[in-house]
Amino acid sequence: MADRSVFNFSAGPAILPEEVLREAQEALWELDGSGIGVLEHSHRGGAFDAVYQQTLADCRAVAGIPDEYEILLLQGGASTQFFMLPANFLPAGGTADYLVTGAWAEKAAKEARFYGNVHEAWKGEKPYTRIPRGDEIHYSEAPAYVHFASNNTIFGTQWNAPPEIPAGSWLACDASSDIFSRPIDVAKYGMIYAGAQKNLGPAGVTLVVLRRELLAEGARVRELPTMQRYDRKSGSMHNTPSTFGIYLMGRVFAWILAGGGLEAMGRRNREKASVLYDALEELEGFYTCTAGEGSRSAMNVTFRARDEETEKRFVAEAEAAGFFGLKGHRDVGGMRASIYNAFPREGCEALANFLRDFAKRNG
Ligand SMILES: Cc1ncc(COP(=O)(O)O)c(C=O)c1O
Repeated sequence: MADRSVFNFSAGPAILPEEVLREAQEALWELDGSGIGVLEHSHRGGAFDAVYQQTLADCRAVAGIPDEYEILLLQGGASTQFFMLPANFLPAGGTADYLVTGAWAEKAAKEARFYGNVHEAWKGEKPYTRIPRGDEIHYSEAPAYVHFASNNTIFGTQWNAPPEIPAGSWLACDASSDIFSRPIDVAKYGMIYAGAQKNLGPAGVTLVVLRRELLAEGARVRELPTMQRYDRKSGSMHNTPSTFGIYLMGRVFAWILAGGGLEAMGRRNREKASVLYDALEELEGFYTCTAGEGSRSAMNVTFRARDEETEKRFVAEAEAAGFFGLKGHRDVGGMRASIYNAFPREGCEALANFLRDFAKRNG
């Protein structure tokens, strides 16, 4: 098969590792010598069970997930977690605290209001250019949990470390756009969730890592239909899961482990992001980073050019030159380069050169 001639900067679904996609091509036809392709295996059969168990084991190995945490591979995207989390853990009349650093964090808070009270422990304003300092966060008295989004995909901001929370509460994190992009101390969280389609695999499967005590009897605060419960006995296998999504996620975990794990991944991602931020700073005046210093994401690099006309030309010329998906989200405008785990450093270097060249031609 021919090499690809574009660099894919899409925000999600996004680029996946070439090795993984090539393995998947073979597995579509035949999974592990079974005579049947991965899409055609029963989720209850031995061949798929081997895939599933290995995926869980590799997920644990990648992030050092302790035994006290359950791993669930669910459907419905991160957006389904926006309501499952409060449905299970926010009692009617109780309060959960939300750190509103972007559009997805805001959507998560909106869904929680169907079940109980939401206290915005910090709320930014569009275009959400920064992450709050600790002394700007004001929690309610006894939050059922505290929710935050570790990376704000649309606005290009990222928490350097999870927020400190009040004693007696626990932290829930939407990590959809920076999951496993750097080391993570899972023990600091009650729950971490992420739609797969940026760093982990295809759309259609969602990783949920949940402290087991939240699955114990009495932890769930209301009666719920089975599919909405985290504590259902059959876990990820209550109904037919996204078998292909789980297979591919497993291959991505194996790819992360083979590449040196999250330490190496974090180092590579920081270097890749610096290539772009350094170029943008060097060309300040022509381009502006929309995220404030200290809050800049290593996953989504958001920037603007002098005026909207120039930005339109930038996106069109970039696409003609093989840089795909650079148009910014409509809430921010401008440009966004999403450079998730599988995005190659050469793509960042090529874009940095294009940034310089375009500024020279239009400056
Ligand atoms: C941070 C964040 N949370 C949630 C979502 C929504 O994910 P899904 O489409 O899987 O519901 C996205 C999608 O881009 C996202 O970036």
